[in-house]
Amino acid sequence: MADVVIITGGTKGLGRASVQKWLAEGWSVATCARDEVDIAKLEAEVNTPNLLSQVVDIADEVAVRGFVKRILERWKKVDVLINNASILGPRETIENYSEETWRKVMDVNVNGTFYFVKKVLPSMLEQKQGVIVNVSSGAGVKGSKRWGAYAASKFAVEGLSQVLRSEVIDSGVRVYAFDPGAMQTEMRASAYPSEDPKQHPTPETIANILFDIATVYEPQLGRLTVKEYL
Ligand SMILES: NC(=O)c1ccc[n+]([C@@H]2O[C@H](COP(=O)([O-])OP(=O)(O)OC[C@H]3O[C@@H](n4cnc5c(N)ncnc54)[C@H](OP(=O)(O)O)[C@@H]3O)[C@@H](O)[C@H]2O)c1
Repeated sequence: MADVVIITGGTKGLGRASVQKWLAEGWSVATCARDEVDIAKLEAEVNTPNLLSQVVDIADEVAVRGFVKRILERWKKVDVLINNASILGPRETIENYSEETWRKVMDVNVNGTFYFVKKVLPSMLEQKQGVIVNVSSGAGVKGSKRWGAYAASKFAVEGLSQVLRSEVIDSGVRVYAFDPGAMQTEMRASAYPSEDPKQHPTPETIANILFDIATVYEPQLGRLTVKEYL
């Protein structure tokens, strides 16, 4: 039986490049995103029964539960969970940040990550093995102006990863927070509209590094930054 990975947000950027990489390595891959046209395009492009994709908003707990149930029914296990999907939100000061937008960014980036961990962890603990990679950011270790809820949410992802890692350290489940650094993606372009994207690595380059990190045993490391691997 092939190994199974869940990669959230697999229709664009790092998530999409990762879906392609893990499929090419022979894994069964489950992914989700909100845009159904993008999901259909991904399905048509890869055209393989080894991909299970579904429209799921990761901020919707019920939808996440249903999605993970479907994956476990089909493939019986999850070996690796990559919590990749996130939203940037506006590059706005805290003073001007709207409460509604704040809640939305936290709901997706923090709660969505937590929901996937919650739903996948029992089967990993039962198997006594598994890898959880929560994609973080440099914005999650140093606060700077106009990074608003995105920065706060990535600090929370770092915290969630540390707490979880300390709880499961002897269980065979490994937990990482992973900072992919700047990449040529839509998210980066909306954060820095005037920069030349070409100065940054492609998401494919980072997806290769992420694959190596997740599949090679590195028990001593809790927070991984891509800079150590480039
Ligand atoms: N790009 C960078 O330079 C950079 C730097 C540091 C960290 N990161 C982190 O790296 C990860 C990937 O970033 P990226 O640049 O590849 O992002 P991206 O190009 O914006 O792609 C994000 C993906 O997540 C999906 N997504 C967003 N919200 C979702 C939701 N609520 N439910 C389900 N899917 C959702 C998107 O599809 P839909 O919109 O259709 O839902 C899309 O497939 C993120 O965690 C990001 O914070 C990125």
